[in-house]
Amino acid sequence: MSSEANPAATSELRQSLGAFATGVVVVTCSGSEGPCGITANSFSSVSLEPPLVLWNIAKVSNSLQAYIDAEYFAINVLRADQRALSVHFAQSDHASFASIEFSETSDGVPILPQTLACFECRTHQVHDCGDHHIIVGEIERHRIDQGEPLLFFRGQYAEIANSARGEPVV
Ligand SMILES: Cc1cc2nc3c(=O)[nH]c(=O)nc-3n(C[C@H](O)[C@H](O)[C@H](O)COP(=O)(O)O)c2cc1C
Repeated sequence: MSSEANPAATSELRQSLGAFATGVVVVTCSGSEGPCGITANSFSSVSLEPPLVLWNIAKVSNSLQAYIDAEYFAINVLRADQRALSVHFAQSDHASFASIEFSETSDGVPILPQTLACFECRTHQVHDCGDHHIIVGEIERHRIDQGEPLLFFRGQYAEIANSARGEPVV
């Protein structure tokens, strides 16, 4: 594998990876300068016993240190009508909670109201991996709500089409 950055190859890789449709979350934590939120689609479940999840944060993120230092964080799973929150927390802005409604968990983590699901986590492991860090959290509390998910596919937001809803697999 080449260690040289190749913008064309990186762009092609990004396009191929974008064919994997995902949901969208806002990962929140309490940083030394106040509440932090960052839009992410790298969220994934890892383990049921113990209950572990992961997400990846870019090393270039202005919020990197806050998430590496955080003992607790929350995964806020966005609903289809919460696209504006995703756009908001994808901007580089340290005061990003200034105009945002939120509450706090018992661990002091900011959480967004009326999300599709929320996972309150304690940081379990942080792995240095390429140009990102993988952050693994152990779920301490979680809740689910009604609604449809916000999706991300080929670099664009999407929603589930009615015809795409099938029978439960599990
Ligand atoms: C749909 C979507 C998914 C994203 N997923 C991630 C992610 O998993 N990890 C990450 O570090 N950045 C991700 N980003 C980019 C960050 O949200 C964005 O770079 C960040 O909010 C910019 O602020 P910062 O530079 O202060 O971190 C994603 C952006 C969007 C729109």
